Amino acid sequence: MTFATPSPSTGAASRPAAWRGVIDAYRSFLPVSTATPLVTLLEGNTPLIYSKVLSQRLGEPFHVYLKFEGLNPTGSFKDRGMTLAISKAVESGARAVLCASTGNTSASASAYAAKANLRSLVLIPRGAIALGKLSQALIHGARVVAVDGNFDVCLQLVRAMAQQHPITLVNSINPFRIEGQKTCAFEVCDVLGRAPDFHLIPVGNAGNITAHWKGYREYHRGGRIASLPVMLGFQARGAAPIVSGRVVKVPKTIATAIRIGNPASWQSALQARDESGGRIDAVSDRQILEAYQLLAQHDGLFVEPASAASVAGLLALARGGYFRRDLKRRGRRLKDPALLVCTLTGHGLKDPERALKSIRPPRTLPPQIEAISKAVGLR
Ligand code: F0G
Repeated sequence: MTFATPSPSTGAASRPAAWRGVIDAYRSFLPVSTATPLVTLLEGNTPLIYSKVLSQRLGEPFHVYLKFEGLNPTGSFKDRGMTLAISKAVESGARAVLCASTGNTSASASAYAAKANLRSLVLIPRGAIALGKLSQALIHGARVVAVDGNFDVCLQLVRAMAQQHPITLVNSINPFRIEGQKTCAFEVCDVLGRAPDFHLIPVGNAGNITAHWKGYREYHRGGRIASLPVMLGFQARGAAPIVSGRVVKVPKTIATAIRIGNPASWQSALQARDESGGRIDAVSDRQILEAYQLLAQHDGLFVEPASAASVAGLLALARGGYFRRDLKRRGRRLKDPALLVCTLTGHGLKDPERALKSIRPPRTLPPQIEAISKAVGLR
């Protein structure tokens, strides 16, 4: 069986042009000018991977693709927005940037700030961010403060601090973050040659679903795609304010990245849902962990738990017959392939503790071939 097509031997003539980051690739869709300094770590251009196992679970005519955003330079989709937010901060003469974060925003902000020679300041909820993310912010030189409160409290604090001090806020309420993140939708369309029928995405502070929908609409308006996808967002059940319609005071989920009770982009997430004819649903921690393991063990993709929320949602909706019903309702012939894309927002190495908790730890044995062979089932 072949798993990959070998690439042709590298002759200069056949080598594709080097990727230079999302601002360079999508300049005409972004609020930049020749005066904007380009701060990039060559983010974007992440793979869109066909999932055989998920496509088989759904059955024909559904084809499922995974947009693996964990392969961005700091390991999450945040880099798409951060390249723009930091470039614009430098353009406006900023000296320092500030954010509240469940981890990934702070990892990205501190890396791009380091590259731009800006100071970075980060507020995180105490004891509630994954180890990998904390280590990223620290090693990139951010000033990190762990606050005795959740993400929503941290966000309130940084909003107030940004009013009082000459410091640029780089949470997704900064419009340049949304502008950069919309490039994920562009890449999906560029690879598929059209928009998918459904786009599934985890929802926390709700900036990313907002950004994707903005990207699809702009590509549609610009004549690059002929149709728009249905947007399907997923929150964790213990942190699902948009689903319940009420702020969650004490959000709870193992998916720390989306442990958010009062999302900043709540209204624009509702707009993405309603304009696209989609939905925002809740998935349980158990469903998230099942999807997390399925991705690792059948697709070879190690994602962080929050990222698996999109696949957990996919499986839950498929079980309820949602996708077939929706295609029928829209009069789509069921034999045309229907394309589904799940955004996998962050890399599994961000949160190795969760992986170790989910799986039996390795056994320790003496260096004896018989004992080892027996223990691993080789006879
Ligand atoms: N997945 C991951 C891995 C995330 O880090 C986040 C958000 C989301 C999904 C949700 O995206 O907020 O745009 O709806 N993380 C933010 C942070 C809140 O601080 O890193 P969203």
